[in-house]
Amino acid sequence: MAIQKVGVVGCGLMGSGIAQTCAAAGFPTVVREVSQELIDKGFKGIEKNLARLAEKGTITAAAQEEIRGRLKGTTKLDDLKDCDLVIEAIIEQLPAKRELFSALDGLCPAATIFASNTSSLTITEIATATKRPQRFVGLHFFNPVPVMKLVEVVRTIATDPGVYEEAVAFGAKLGKTPVRAHDSTGFIVNRLLVPYLLDAIRALEEGVGSIVDIDNSMKLGCGYPMGPFTLLDFVGLDTTYYISQIMFDEFKERRFASPPLLKRMVLAGWNGRKAGRGFYDYSDPANPKPMKF
Ligand code: CAA
Repeated sequence: MAIQKVGVVGCGLMGSGIAQTCAAAGFPTVVREVSQELIDKGFKGIEKNLARLAEKGTITAAAQEEIRGRLKGTTKLDDLKDCDLVIEAIIEQLPAKRELFSALDGLCPAATIFASNTSSLTITEIATATKRPQRFVGLHFFNPVPVMKLVEVVRTIATDPGVYEEAVAFGAKLGKTPVRAHDSTGFIVNRLLVPYLLDAIRALEEGVGSIVDIDNSMKLGCGYPMGPFTLLDFVGLDTTYYISQIMFDEFKERRFASPPLLKRMVLAGWNGRKAGRGFYDYSDPANPKPMKF
């Protein structure tokens, strides 16, 4: 059975990006949030993105309308019951995700495929909240979703091989490059990215270089689009801290352990760009200034 209609749960940064990407690829997409206010906020972001693409001539005005027309916002979980695939992008908390999927399991037909966009939780543990772990995969997207070309497609030991291939094919239909990963904490990208980001903080703590010099080193010396501190602020320090804790808990290896400075910044609420302050101060967003510690 080919996937025709998609449901997305969560219309935050990731959920709205996933919904936009699905609609742009031609899939009618229903997005569920807990309040109309959150739907409006997410859809405003999508409309802004589409308008920018139309202004630049990347898409036509007609395509902009068509994509918008394929998107429907709802506060009712019930509205997802005729979707062939439901992608979850809610808060990174296991009980919340398990509760959601347990409810969806009661609503959706047995054939519906479930996917989580979790970056660090164990897909197997989320899937066991349902009676269909064989129809459960991870679809891990990257921020900003409409721009980043990768999707990690994650299989558990219970995932049916045919369902997994459908999920891989779906990732390709979105215009992404799907990579195949096992349900190992952090999958491929965060397995490599998280120790790198944490090591940048350790290098700063040890006085190896300044925030700007470490950022410039990786940008200009290695061609990364953002240096590690700019990327930490972009991803969110709270998010990185949370992922590092889960990864450390799983592997018990120092490379996944949070440096003391990261913990203190999160405790202080300096969570990066969204908080106005992280490794840089964003009082003037066009001209971020490195923080002094
Ligand atoms: N939404 C949609 N489009 C966006 C966007 C957003 N939030 N931000 C930028 N863009 C688009 C721009 O419109 C522009 O499009 P065109 O090429 O068609 O003109 C393009 O992206 C490039 O943008 P800019 O020229 O403004 O800026 P840039 O060249 O610096 O690119 C970036 C911005 C794409 C974010 C780039 O800096 C980048 O790739 N950074 C690294 C991002 C990254 O590593 N993301 C992964 C984080 S880890 C994660 O998400 C997973 C996890 O589990 C933690």
